[in-house]
Parts: sequence; C-alpha cells; structure tokens
Amino acid sequence: MAARLIPAADRDAVGQAVDCLAKGGLVAFPTETVYGLGADAANGVAIARLYAAKGRPSFNPLIAHVADVAGARRLARFDAAAARLAAAFWPGPLTLVLPKAFGCPVAELATAGLDTIAVRLPAHPVARALIAAVGRPLVAPSANRSGHVSPTTAQHVMADLGEKIDIVLDGGATPVGVESTILACLGETPTLLRPGGLPRAEIEHVLGVAVAERNGAAEAGAPETGEAPLAPGMLASHYAPKTRLRLAARDVEDGEALLAFGPLPPGAERAARVLNLSARGDLEEAAANLFSHLRALDGAGARTIAVAPIPSEGLGEAINDRLARAAAPRE
Ligand code: TXA
Ligand code: MG
Repeated sequence: MAARLIPAADRDAVGQAVDCLAKGGLVAFPTETVYGLGADAANGVAIARLYAAKGRPSFNPLIAHVADVAGARRLARFDAAAARLAAAFWPGPLTLVLPKAFGCPVAELATAGLDTIAVRLPAHPVARALIAAVGRPLVAPSANRSGHVSPTTAQHVMADLGEKIDIVLDGGATPVGVESTILACLGETPTLLRPGGLPRAEIEHVLGVAVAERNGAAEAGAPETGEAPLAPGMLASHYAPKTRLRLAARDVEDGEALLAFGPLPPGAERAARVLNLSARGDLEEAAANLFSHLRALDGAGARTIAVAPIPSEGLGEAINDRLARAAAPRE
C-alpha cells in the first residue's frame, strides 16, 4: 500500500505520525538537511523494517534524532568538546558520534552493535515537533533507497520509498539540502567523518583546533580495517544517480546534460538539459539545489552529466564530497 502523503501543516499531521510510529510504523519527515525516514529508536522490529525498506545493509548504523540536549545525554556521553559543539550548533546540521551512555534505550540493531552512537538535534520545526510529541528518540536515515541520492522534497521520498513506508509528512523543500556534518568526539581530537551542512571552518572556530580526518581507507571506500572511527555508510559510490558524471567540466560535449555553477561554460547551448546549482555562484543555494538537480538531470536521458567545478570552501566541501561519490565507479 502506498504511503499517505500528509501536509505537515495539517492540524493532526503530527498526531497521525505519532500514532503510526508508536505502532512500529515508518514515517518520513523533513529536517533542515534532507528528509529522514523515522522509526522509534527503541523498537527493533520497526528498525528491521526500516533497513529492509531502504535496502540498507544492517551493519550501517543510524543516527538517533532527539528533541533536546537532555534527550541526547540519555543516549551518549559528552566530553568537553562535544558539549561545546552542542551548545554552539544545536539545533542544527551537526551529528555527533559519541560513546553510548549506560542504559541507552536505542535498539542494538540501530547502532549495528557498536559501542558508539550518532546523535543529532535537528533544527526543522516539523522534525522537532514530531520528536517532542513522540517523547522518545527517532532513528532516521535519509529517506531514499540505499545508495541513491538523498531526498530534499516529499515527492523524492514518495518516488523512492512510497510503496514501502507508511506516512510522508510534507514540509516542502529542505533548506540546507545536504546531510548533516558528522563529527566523532571519542577522545583526543574530534574527527570529521562526513562533511555536511555545517562547514568545517565553523566547527574549528568553536574548537580552536583543526579537526582530524577519517583515515584514507574509508575515503577510498575500501573495507574498514583500522581502529579509527568511520562513518560506515560512506562507501565511495554512495549518493549515486544512474547517469555517469563528468566532474570539473569546463565545457559541454555532445549528448551531455549540464549541472552548472555560476556563468554557463562554452557549449552549454548544445546540452540535452541545463540546470544551474546557483547562477550567482552562491554555495548555500547550490547545496539546497544539489540533490533535486541531480535527480532531474538523471531523468533527462543524457549520456553523461557534465558538472561545473565547485570551489571547496564552506559548503563546497560537502557538495564536492557528494559529487565525488556520485561519480565513483559502482561496485
Ligand atoms: O542530515 C542527516 O544527517 C540526515 C537527516 C535525516 O538527519 N540523516 C542521514 O542519515 O544522513 P544516514 O543514515 O543517511 O547517514 C548517517 C551516517 C551513515 O554514513 C552512518 O554510517 C553514520 O552516519 N553513522 C551512524 N552511526 C555511526 C557511528 N556510531 N559511528 C560512525 N558513523 C556512524
Ligand atoms: Mg543516507
């Protein structure tokens, strides 16, 4: 049965979602980054269904979403750096990977048996209202089929998962457009596991030190071997559209679609289709448009998508990370 698409502004939208989650249902909801697919974090059966709906390997753990800092502290242990980052950036697009707290109520399946847990306090009013009304943490991966581009609209969620989940709360397009930045605070220096909606420079400004990098094996998508904490989901070919991408393209070849940034390059007029991430070269606008433009160009029937060069500062780091994964060879 197809999911019910409920406008988040409907009077009883959150109430219906809460009832559904309490029965072990799966509810997609907007966050400021991308749409998440929510399940009750304490319900192992619901979480098993969530992994199956996404086609996600169950060794890839989920982020627990909370309504406030007190809720986060019931799940995880905060060191001084984590406490400072939470005070500075929550609610917002930052996920912290922390040691699991004693008595953490999140199901083992959601944390894939790790002794760490990823915690996030989202800023989107619909996400906050939903989690507060449930009164418990929600696990929520991006609401796409595993390996596909993350959804930034309710329609993207319906297209990917409409037949497999129960409710989609429609709160319009998500404002940030790329997933949260993931930082591990597990002793020594905080480690950047995934660049995302909170730029690295802002984190380093608050910490007063440079963040550490996850090791090269994870970067290359190789199996994890080292001791370093990794975001196991960061496989090289994650976030992949079906059409091949040609990155840092300064021109357009015959039969290509174009994903532009700033002024159009030579040959743009012969592109099968052109979408601009930001005509004025604004990285925040580009991040907000990234996944919906990739989905649209993927459907344009082009041989290749030529992607203009994007500067790597600010949100450009996350944009280039997702583009590199989208362009990586498939397993
Ligand atoms: O913006 C976001 O973070 C969105 C919205 C819905 O909140 N969620 C999201 O979830 O992107 P997901 O499941 O698509 O990506 C979560 C990433 C995965 O790469 C996973 O491997 C990593 O977080 N992760 C989860 N728990 C972890 C842990 N204990 N240690 C290291 N990485 C972890
Ligand atoms: Mg995801």
